[in-house]
Amino acid sequence: MKKNRHFLPTSKKAKTAWSSENHSEDISENILFGKIASEIRRETPVALETVAVIGLGYVGLPLALLADKKGHKVIGIDTNTDLIKSIQKHKAPNSINEKEQAFFSDHKIAADTKFHPARNANVIIICVPTPVHDDHSPDLRPLIEAAQSVAPMTKPGTLVIIESTVSPGVTENIVLPIFEKNKQLIREETLFFAHCPERINPGDPVWDLSTIPRVVGGIGPKSLEKAVAFYSRLLKGVIQPMRSLKEAEAVKMVENSFRDINIAFVNELAMSFQKLGIDIIDVIEGASTKPFGFMTHFPGIGVGGHCIPVDPYYLIEEAARNGFNHRFLKAARKVNNNMPRFTAQLLKKTMSHQGKKLKRSHVTLLGLAYKKNIADTRESPALRMKSELEQMGAVVTTFDPYVPHLSSASSLDEALHNASAVVIATDHQLFTTLTPKQLLQHRVPIIVDGRNCLSKEEFINGGVTYVGIGR
Ligand SMILES: NC(=O)c1ccc[n+]([C@@H]2O[C@H](COP(=O)([O-])OP(=O)(O)OC[C@H]3O[C@@H](n4cnc5c(N)ncnc54)[C@H](O)[C@@H]3O)[C@@H](O)[C@H]2O)c1
Repeated sequence: MKKNRHFLPTSKKAKTAWSSENHSEDISENILFGKIASEIRRETPVALETVAVIGLGYVGLPLALLADKKGHKVIGIDTNTDLIKSIQKHKAPNSINEKEQAFFSDHKIAADTKFHPARNANVIIICVPTPVHDDHSPDLRPLIEAAQSVAPMTKPGTLVIIESTVSPGVTENIVLPIFEKNKQLIREETLFFAHCPERINPGDPVWDLSTIPRVVGGIGPKSLEKAVAFYSRLLKGVIQPMRSLKEAEAVKMVENSFRDINIAFVNELAMSFQKLGIDIIDVIEGASTKPFGFMTHFPGIGVGGHCIPVDPYYLIEEAARNGFNHRFLKAARKVNNNMPRFTAQLLKKTMSHQGKKLKRSHVTLLGLAYKKNIADTRESPALRMKSELEQMGAVVTTFDPYVPHLSSASSLDEALHNASAVVIATDHQLFTTLTPKQLLQHRVPIIVDGRNCLSKEEFINGGVTYVGIGR
């Protein structure tokens, strides 16, 4: 029974809530309370499905490749013609990691911009973007459009899974009705509907798509059981069934808001400690020695990517529509959004202490991706940092070995040469090995370490002015 902790709480209350909310057979007897994922894996015949993956980006393409690896017949669909052409020509996009690239080069998955091949699918997984508009309100257009395109192709008996990140209620209230317009599709009879939010962490050397635990919510017990069985066979990680679609959606909101809030907290501490003359990194390392009740987060020039700076807005909006004001989440967003400006001002102040002006100075920005050792620039604080510096009149040179098309310099040496100051915006491996000697050789007197990834002492002792975020 101990193993069942991976599943829903076994309390009487929880079981009752499930059966009363879902009006159907008591799933608790089937999978939720009596079995663990490995048992489902053993008991369910290894059905090789025809899987249509809609949206072949950072989430969808690795998933399509894994499903192919597991023996499923895979159909990849994406509205991006260039992407589909490159997949058809067997050219791997940089949204997949090295292991996936190796698999990709040995296999070919069917890829199309048209949706009719999805007619053959008995599992459809939607992995399209869920961004926000300029005013930070959720932009559900790609999800709605993808659902509208694939719903008419969906055959009775199909399991539809939404992996895109959405706020609680979107799967059931917005996406599911689009499928139900197809009169052949009746929920829990001929249409099975689930939400399984993706958790991939690009560039993570430990956790990958196959090993990260997942949560799954279903529109009813049959959908849930089918989805849990599908993922249990596909993935090695623990699959945690949730009591509803809404709970599964909320899990993802909570995870990413948790990150955003904690990063905002250390960013605020960094700004405060800078004034107090306390090194935030030393303090965080000190606090990290507490073996319980503390989780380490580090300050920096801001948060980026498709998740952390976006998902909290989904929750903020949904709660507001239901009469709740998430003041704490909004404050965290504000703090993190302000970090590029704070860092640019830090540089301006540092230069001014040395009698120099930022205006018309040559500043080199190292890194454009939102995090280390990957090429993704979505919502990257580095890009906002660039515009902040330019608005302050600096002449900015950029270099990111992973993002050559947005880099104005073609090598690190070229980027560093004669710069009045260097700002590290992304802690790519190449930048973490910078030395004071290297900077002085290129006549660079100041470095702003926007990721606190260098040794402060080494640079100060080496004769370079070093400024970190909160140190
Ligand atoms: N990237 C991550 O690290 C990550 C992690 C966890 C969750 N997510 C979530 O997963 C979802 C997908 O994210 P992503 O990073 O893979 O996005 P992405 O932009 O890399 O890929 C999405 C793909 O969907 C395609 N697309 C857009 N509209 C479409 C439509 N109507 N029909 C078919 N294809 C369409 C796009 O052309 C694109 O190739 C988002 O909701 C995101 O929040 C992303």
